[in-house]
Amino acid sequence: MIPKKLVEACKKKMERFDCEGFVYGTGPIRPVLFFVGEAPGETEIHNGIPFSGRAGEEFEKFITYLDLTRADIYITSAIRSRPYKWRKPPHKTEKRKYNRTPNQKEIAAHAPLLDYEIEKSEPNIIVPMGRIAYWRLLGEHPRMDEVTGTFITSPIRKLDDWEKNTYRFTEKTYTLFPMYHPAAVLYKRSLESVIYEHLDKLKEFLSKDL
Ligand code: URA
Repeated sequence: MIPKKLVEACKKKMERFDCEGFVYGTGPIRPVLFFVGEAPGETEIHNGIPFSGRAGEEFEKFITYLDLTRADIYITSAIRSRPYKWRKPPHKTEKRKYNRTPNQKEIAAHAPLLDYEIEKSEPNIIVPMGRIAYWRLLGEHPRMDEVTGTFITSPIRKLDDWEKNTYRFTEKTYTLFPMYHPAAVLYKRSLESVIYEHLDKLKEFLSKDL
């Protein structure tokens, strides 16, 4: 879906950062839902499938709960490579790579990819999962408990200047439904019931919309 030239330019821009691998977003044009995560992890960069690791198991439960399959939805993330840092695991002498949150320069390096996917797939509803995806699209860092599970009608951010890492808002208005990142339940099980309330809301919206 994404032109090779654009992919190459984005990979090049990412070269100077501690990020590895490259995972393409997957899904149809005009998906029922367009999910945006943060960045792939170790599992994803090895098999090339977005959300196929531990967070992916939770994500899979979300879509099943919505009576959907991967064929109905688009799934991608703010960046396509795995940001890592070297650290020594406890009681070990050898350092290994750990996942970390992508920084703003890394997000900008891959921003044209997400811009392209959104433009081409014309999503009905965009679901940013977690604070990185939220910030990437809306430019704000609110508390997630204040924005998750609500419908937002808004233009979204699109890269404006690749040298300065600046964004501008689209002319088009989108419907967004921010959610917690599926990995959040792995750290905080108590979030599960809130997430499923949000999924119920989304399900109800879809039943009217389709
Ligand atoms: N987290 C993400 O945001 N994307 C993945 O593909 C995996 C974990």
